Amino acid sequence: MTTAAAPRSVRMLLRAAHQTEGAGFSVRRPFPGRAVDHLDPFLLLDEMGPMELGPGEAKGAPDHPHRGFETVTYLLAGEMEHRDSQGNAGRLGPGDVQWMTAGAGVVHSELPSARLLAEGGRMHGFQLWVNLPRADKRARPRYQDLRADRIPVVRSADGRVTVRVIAGEALGAAAVTRTHTPILYLHASLAPQGRLEQPVPEGFTALVYVFEGEARIGREARLARGGDLVVLDGGPGPAVAEAGAEGGAELLLLAAEPLREPVARYGPFVMTTEAEIHEAIADYRAGRMGTIAAEIAPPAP
Ligand code: CO
Repeated sequence: MTTAAAPRSVRMLLRAAHQTEGAGFSVRRPFPGRAVDHLDPFLLLDEMGPMELGPGEAKGAPDHPHRGFETVTYLLAGEMEHRDSQGNAGRLGPGDVQWMTAGAGVVHSELPSARLLAEGGRMHGFQLWVNLPRADKRARPRYQDLRADRIPVVRSADGRVTVRVIAGEALGAAAVTRTHTPILYLHASLAPQGRLEQPVPEGFTALVYVFEGEARIGREARLARGGDLVVLDGGPGPAVAEAGAEGGAELLLLAAEPLREPVARYGPFVMTTEAEIHEAIADYRAGRMGTIAAEIAPPAP
């Protein structure tokens, strides 16, 4: 017979730094930063906004390349349009996720929709970068566009915790997302006194990013507020987050099997050696990752 393992311990707490990205939109970035380069296999987490934009103020990231990893965009509010060098185009709205495998390389743009730019409005979302194992870094680029209605929403038995399952499984619900290695990506909403206890396989990296309200995380019940990322130990216990009696919390729970491979990164390229980085830069400059054709029509409003 087995006894329930104690919750995972807190290894470290990172406070998100404010950054300006792309053409000038502000993000909260818990990592990478001075203290941490990456949290294997996670390479970066950006919280875009929340911000209230006036007409003409919305900014985005014009044409730029990626190679060797995946970018996962999750919007809570606002609208973004995406175009790339393969001729793909799409729009993300509130609750939608785009899981892009850059693999061998894409050039893409991530811009506010024409409507958000013209009318202004609220913008809030996340971009997560997930490393690919060496064997998959040259994979053909792939998109998984997950509309909000394809993302399972589950509630705890006591009704105090609501979880959106973006990747992996929680509370008996499984995401439709396909990932190259096992990854768990949850958005949990905790009402006052809500307690999330999420099993995570032993040895997996596990992170909790609180972006609204506050919650107590891990065995030590460490207090985390909006903009705090808590790095948990390798288990085997569950990842635990608990809201207080007064207020709730919104958080992301990320967990994944570490790749345990060398990481060579330079801006939008993440490979395993410096030589591969130089090759990526040369390929991009020579146009071998493609360009965005001007004749691609933007998606209809
Ligand atoms: Co990008």
